[in-house]
Amino acid sequence: MGVIHVILSRDMETPNNNQRGFWTSRLGFILAASGSAIGLGNVWKFPYITGQNGGGAFVLVYLVCILIVGLPIMLAEFTLGRRTNLNPVGAFRELSPKTPWVVIGFMGVLAGFLILSFYAVVGGWTLAYIVKSFSSAAVHFKSPQEAGEFFGQFIAEPEEVTFYHAVFLVMCVGIVIKGVHGGIEKACDILMPTLAAILLLLMVRSLTLEGAMEGVVFYLKPDFSKITPHVVLVALGQAFFSLSLGMGAMLTYGSYLPPEENLTSATVYVVIFDTLVALLMGMVIFPAVFAMGLEPAEGPSLVFSVLPTVFSSMPFGAVASFIFFVLLAIAALTSGISLLEVVVAYFIDQRGWTRKKAVLVMGGVIFLLGVPSGLSFGVLADFKPGGMTFFDHVDNLASNYLLPAGGMLTAIYVGFVWGPEAAQAEIERHETTFHWARAWAFLIRYVTPVAVLFVFLARIF
Ligand code: PHE
Repeated sequence: MGVIHVILSRDMETPNNNQRGFWTSRLGFILAASGSAIGLGNVWKFPYITGQNGGGAFVLVYLVCILIVGLPIMLAEFTLGRRTNLNPVGAFRELSPKTPWVVIGFMGVLAGFLILSFYAVVGGWTLAYIVKSFSSAAVHFKSPQEAGEFFGQFIAEPEEVTFYHAVFLVMCVGIVIKGVHGGIEKACDILMPTLAAILLLLMVRSLTLEGAMEGVVFYLKPDFSKITPHVVLVALGQAFFSLSLGMGAMLTYGSYLPPEENLTSATVYVVIFDTLVALLMGMVIFPAVFAMGLEPAEGPSLVFSVLPTVFSSMPFGAVASFIFFVLLAIAALTSGISLLEVVVAYFIDQRGWTRKKAVLVMGGVIFLLGVPSGLSFGVLADFKPGGMTFFDHVDNLASNYLLPAGGMLTAIYVGFVWGPEAAQAEIERHETTFHWARAWAFLIRYVTPVAVLFVFLARIF
């Protein structure tokens, strides 16, 4: 029985390389990884938590977290991926066969599965708002309260929410089914530059509103008295989620890299792009919020209730709203496809499925799991085991437990088990000396795991 099992599982686990494919260009990889990083986390979450956590001071702490936690872990994930050319489960199994480290990979696949199930619900909301601004339904508000009510009514609507949720997933499935460079790379090649252009346009609009300067000051001038342990925790958690770290998404994207790729510079580019989009987004939101005399600490509804009020009062508001929600949907879509790719790569590599089967089956299962999340704001709003809705439970489990744990374990694994020397050898396989090797080894061994442990524990207690 044991022997048969070993033979069978070895057969099933042969990497299915012709179902995998590689990125065709360096830029393609960087845009795709940036597409994964840049998402609802930057465009929707970053501004509202910056607003809640004191503006400029929070931004400063966030930047430090990106530098000492985000950057080292991203390089570690890219390196593990390119070394093994495998999904997260396969990668740990190949480097450390028959050890419990493979758990990191399973946690990652599970996190991808769970995050996409609710991410697609919010992605669906953004699709709906594109349509609603087109028909001007979402751009006639006199106050943020009115816009908030409109939003609340919309997300309680079971058919509409489920319909857009399905549309969002069908779009992800359609891209991922075409494989890495046919689908994901091509889509990101077009989508990411469009996103940058749209953001710059909106920033100009926002900065030229009367009273915009007050928002710029709130956003950029740090008030150091606002830095508390809680602010640090929120900033670190956000760095994780925003850079798509801790679940093997970047590992998986790295696995499609040809060996001649320069990993360190790719890491720096992706981190800079992701951070720039978040920072730019703040420059779109805060000047507008202050120009309208609105509340920056509004919370998660900021995008969906406050911005439409801003658009309602602007000339060409419907156009601005349309552009903004197209942007948000694009960002969500390029992150959604990376979440789906982690799950799909596992079934292709480890289970020998074809890409088509993996994408269709998993897309369907993720949709079904997402349905109760989508209904959590309406029909299932009162179904709150343990005080949280279904949506909150899935989000909480994946984002607050699986991601930090996965990131911390990855850092420990690379720092102490696989070893910084082995990683450095992989990084230097086709490029000149990795000058920052010692600093990186120090960060990945001591700073990163301790910082993440700090976040992790603080969330439990
Ligand atoms: N980074 C994405 C965002 O900011 C979310 C994400 C998390 C994507 C983890 C993949 C993996 O929206």
